[in-house]
Parts: sequence; C-alpha cells; structure tokens
Amino acid sequence: MVTSQLLAYVALLFFCVFKASSLDTFIAAVYEHAVVLPNATLTPVSPEEALALMNRNLDLLEGAITSAAQQGAHIIVTPEDGIYGWNFTRESLYPYLEDIPHPQVNWIPCNNPNRFGHTPVQERLSCLAKDNSIYVVANIGDKKPCNASDTQCPHDGHYQYNTDVVFDSQGRLVARYHKHNLFMGENQFNAPMEPEVVTFNTTFGRFGIFTCFDILFYDPAVTLVKDFHVDTILFPTAWMNVLPHLSAIEFHSAWAMGMGVNFLASNTHNPSMKMTGSGIYAPDSARAFHYDMKTEEGKLLLSQLESHPSHPAVNWTSYASSVEAPATGNQEFKGIIFFDEYTFVELTGVTANYTVCQKDLCCHLSYQMSEKRADEVYVLGAFDGLHTVEGQYHLQVCTLLKCKTTDLNTCGDSVEIASTRFEMFSLSGTFGTPYVFPEVLLSEIQLAPGEFQVSSDGRLFSLKPTSGPVLTVTLFGRLYEKDWPSNTSSDLLGQALQIMLAVVVLVVYSLYW
Ligand SMILES: *[C@@H]1O[C@H](CO)[C@@H](O)[C@H](O)[C@H]1NC(C)=O
Ligand SMILES: *[C@@H]1O[C@H](CO)[C@@H](O)[C@H](O)[C@H]1NC(C)=O
Ligand SMILES: *[C@@H]1O[C@H](CO)[C@@H](O)[C@H](O)[C@H]1NC(C)=O
Ligand SMILES: *[C@@H]1O[C@H](CO)[C@@H](O)[C@H](O)[C@H]1NC(C)=O
Ligand SMILES: *[C@@H]1O[C@H](CO)[C@@H](O)[C@H](O)[C@H]1NC(C)=O
Ligand SMILES: *[C@@H]1O[C@H](CO)[C@@H](O)[C@H](O)[C@H]1NC(C)=O
Ligand SMILES: *[C@@H]1O[C@H](CO)[C@@H](O)[C@H](O)[C@H]1NC(C)=O
Repeated sequence: MVTSQLLAYVALLFFCVFKASSLDTFIAAVYEHAVVLPNATLTPVSPEEALALMNRNLDLLEGAITSAAQQGAHIIVTPEDGIYGWNFTRESLYPYLEDIPHPQVNWIPCNNPNRFGHTPVQERLSCLAKDNSIYVVANIGDKKPCNASDTQCPHDGHYQYNTDVVFDSQGRLVARYHKHNLFMGENQFNAPMEPEVVTFNTTFGRFGIFTCFDILFYDPAVTLVKDFHVDTILFPTAWMNVLPHLSAIEFHSAWAMGMGVNFLASNTHNPSMKMTGSGIYAPDSARAFHYDMKTEEGKLLLSQLESHPSHPAVNWTSYASSVEAPATGNQEFKGIIFFDEYTFVELTGVTANYTVCQKDLCCHLSYQMSEKRADEVYVLGAFDGLHTVEGQYHLQVCTLLKCKTTDLNTCGDSVEIASTRFEMFSLSGTFGTPYVFPEVLLSEIQLAPGEFQVSSDGRLFSLKPTSGPVLTVTLFGRLYEKDWPSNTSSDLLGQALQIMLAVVVLVVYSLYW
C-alpha cells in the first residue's frame, strides 16, 4: 500500500515536473552581427592570429548573448561566417578551423575543454551558453582528416565544412550541421557527401537547422519540415539582398509562412555587400525584423513565439483553377527579373482583375489602388521555368510589382521606393507545386505583418489597406522535383529519394537526457 502510494506520488511528481518543463511559448533572439573581417590575404595567418580575430567577434557576440539572456531569451541565433568572416581560400581558412565532434559524444566543452584537442572557440561558445543559461547557435568551421582509403578525400588530406553548432543551456553540444548547398565561390569548403538532417528536441519544441543558400533547395530544408516535423528552423546566413524577390526579410518570412514553421534568421551586417535583414518569423506573420543599410551597427531582436505553431493546409491551385480568365486582350510584354524572362501585363486602372499566363502557370490578380498615379507603373507577371544564374532551380512565380520607372523596359529592375498604397489585393496562380512562398514587400524594404493572409484555396490577399506603398506582392513557387536530373519516372525518383533519406545521418538530442 505504502509502495503503491509512493509510486503514485512519484508518478504525479514526474507528471508535474514534466508538464511544468514543457513550454507553450518561448522567447527567441537573433543577432544581426557586423562581423570584424580579417585582412584579405592569400597567405595563411598563424593559429594565434586567427584566434585573436575570432575572439574579437566572440566579444561582440558575448554582448548580444548576455543581453538576450537577461531579457529572458531561451535561444539566440548568430550569423553564418559570424566568427571569422569571408573571402578565404581553402588554405587561408585552415587556421580558423576546429575539429567538431558528433554531438552523440555528449560533450560540454566548458566543463571539459581538452577532451577533443585544441577547441577554444567551442569552449567559449559552450561557456557563453552555460553561464547565461541559454541555447546558443553559431557558425564555425569544421575540419575532418581523411586519407586515400576515401577516394573523395581532398589532396590536402582533410575536409573543411561550413558548420552550424548548437550548445544547450548547460553548454552541451547538441547539434552540428554541415552546410550542404554551398553558394557559388564558396570554394574554401567541401559539401558533405549526403545532406544531413539535423534536429534536436527541447521543452519549447523541436528544432531543425540549415544555412543560407540551403533555403532554396529541397534537402535538408523541406525534409526537416515535411518528414521530421520541426516547429522552428534555425537559420544562420550571410545573405546578399536581391530585389524584387530575394531580399532577406522578404524571402525568409515567406518561407516561414509557406512551410508553416517558426524561422529564426540571423544575417551578417555589411551594407557595402548588401548584407542586412534578420528576423523572427512565425507562420502567420513576421514578429520582429531588422533591415538597415544606413549604419554599421549590429542589432539584437527578441520576440515570443509559440513552441508548436499550427499551420493550416493550403491548396495552391484550388482558387486559381476555378477562375475564368477575363477575355480582355491585354497587351502582354516580356521583361527580365533577376535573369528570368517574365510575361507581364500593365495595371492600367485604379481597380481591376487581370490574368497573365506563361507555360503551365496562370496568375490572377484582383486589386484596388488608393490612386492611379501618373508617375508609377505596376505590372502583373508570370514566370514558369528554370532559373540559371547564381544557382539552378525551377520556379513558378506570380508577381505584382512596381516598375523602376514609367518606362516598361524597367519592369523587374531593382527598386526600393514606391508611392502607391493598395486598398486591397488578391493574388493566386495555377501552381504545379505545394511549395509556394508568399511575399509582401513595402517601400523602403519593409514587411507588412498582420496585413495579409493566405486562404486555404491558395489566395494571398490583403486584410486591410496596406500601411505603406507597395513594392511587390508575390507567390514564389519552387518545383523541386524538376530540379532532379534524369528522365526517371517521378515514382522511381520518389522511392530513390526516400531510401536516400532513410540512410541520412540523424543528430537528435533530447533535453530530458
Ligand atoms: C589589418 O591590418 C591592419 C594594418 O596592418 C591592422 O592594423 C589591423 O589590426 C588588421 N586587422 C585585423 C583584423 O587583423
Ligand atoms: C578578397 O581578397 C582579395 C585578395 O585576397 C581582394 O583582392 C579582394 O578585394 C577581397 N574581396 C573582398 C570583397 O574583400
Ligand atoms: C584512414 O582514415 C580512416 C578514417 O579516418 C582511419 O580509420 C584509417 O586508420 C586511416 N588509414 C590510414 C592508413 O591512415
Ligand atoms: C487542389 O484543388 C484542385 C482544384 O480544386 C484539385 O483538383 C486538387 O485535387 C486539389 N489538390 C489537393 C492536393 O487537394
Ligand atoms: C473582379 O472579380 C471579382 C470576382 O470574380 C468580382 O467580384 C469583381 O467585381 C471584379 N472586379 C472588377 C474590377 O472587375
Ligand atoms: C529527357 O529525354 C528527352 C528525350 O530523350 C530529352 O529531350 C530531355 O531533354 C530529357 N530530359 C532531361 C531532364 O534529361
Ligand atoms: C524528439 O521527440 C519526438 C516526439 O516527441 C520523437 O519522435 C523523437 O524521436 C525525439 N528525438 C529524440 C531522439 O530525442
């Protein structure tokens, strides 16, 4: 009797502790960091000089981490290349690298700094996490020796990986992710043989991680959400803004909405390289964002998020395929957006419905402007095809955008200022993919949180008149399966992919361990 009472008590206690430790919401922080760059040199610096530079950056990150923790943040994300910068050759990067073990070794570098050789950067990050009781996400470089038994082994006898690491609030290494989709010119690094799908559990939801250019591809980004059901994506990046569709805050917030996850994007801050734009994005809207081309300062953002955000299903073709295209005989013309040839129609009235098609994609727009200004031209555009510059990927895009000038030849050129507000808009398209990212960007590169929504039948529509003039309203669709080379039937391809995923390395750690 006493035993069973005791057991019941222990069970209740366990239940309470478990319940209490599971959080419905958490506070996320991201830090846009103005990286102290090394002097450009082809000759490798000494390990001491490399560490000195990295410690200068860590001093700045320490300020952000401490401040975030004091304000109650559970996790903070810092940017890609945030500790040593960029512009390296393979050789000049080497002094900055550490051997980063697999998290299954269960290691708290702060408590046991010499267990895996000389790893001062991992030790310092671990201590920052532990001393401030906060999860710390950072990007550093991993080196892994290899030899002739591995036919892929580089000539210098080791792999170099662009690597994200996560230390939990006790300083334990809980995740290590090697960037898979390296950007053009990132020749100082190797890509891992197979994409790594890296997740970890916490009391405030399940997390997945990937880096910068990875966001444009299926693996591991989409897999983390679709098959591993993460709640929140951690996203260190060094993102160069490209208008009209690939500005950091615009595209990253759209990915969060399209995929139905929280998204913590931490960018480097370097206006001369067009690097700015960080944010904390929930599936329904941006919660905090920062875009600053004027100062050289870093910026800390904090916001509360749901640990398990919900995401209603959207059929992206449902509404558009029911629309009868009005037979208006609109004057169509061609124009270029970021090297892709779009089909455009000009929006000539203050309010109207338009349809424009290219190949398999038809885009429909209903809109009402506040006024039809003589000094501004807006168009509706459609693109269905392969993008081939700075990466190859298949797109289907429906876009309403402001042309740079009233000359129609400038439609699609980068423009940052507009004057026309919209009373309402509703944009949809006959997409051949479930992966569509809804973007709304206002004048001076601002987001419009809470001003628009996506309906279950695939319309991106305004909830109220826009709070500022509109640069673009866009549905950015990705046709991942078309990227996969071959004439294999899609079924076979699907199976091959599933097998590939099944063998993918999983790094999963629970806080309860
Ligand atoms: C770069 O070189 C200058 C001049 O030699 C020196 O003052 C500066 O500290 C160096 N910067 C770094 C990051 O090493
Ligand atoms: C990168 O380094 C090279 C020399 O190593 C230099 O010529 C070039 O200007 C640097 N580029 C940037 C963006 O710093
Ligand atoms: C080659 O590398 C593998 C794995 O790193 C190691 O197990 C093996 O002992 C090495 N062989 C030689 C000849 O060094
Ligand atoms: C989406 O809607 C279209 C048109 O209503 C329908 O044909 C299609 O089956 C739907 N797709 C899904 C996945 O439900
Ligand atoms: C646009 O289409 C909607 C829905 O079919 C219709 O209610 C509306 O009157 C149309 N607007 C214009 C300006 O033609
Ligand atoms: C598939 O095969 C056809 C005909 O052999 C060829 O025209 C086409 O380019 C191929 N597609 C791909 C993606 O390889
Ligand atoms: C994370 O949690 C989920 C379910 O709560 C579980 O399926 C998964 O295996 C966990 N990962 C690990 C290994 O802790």
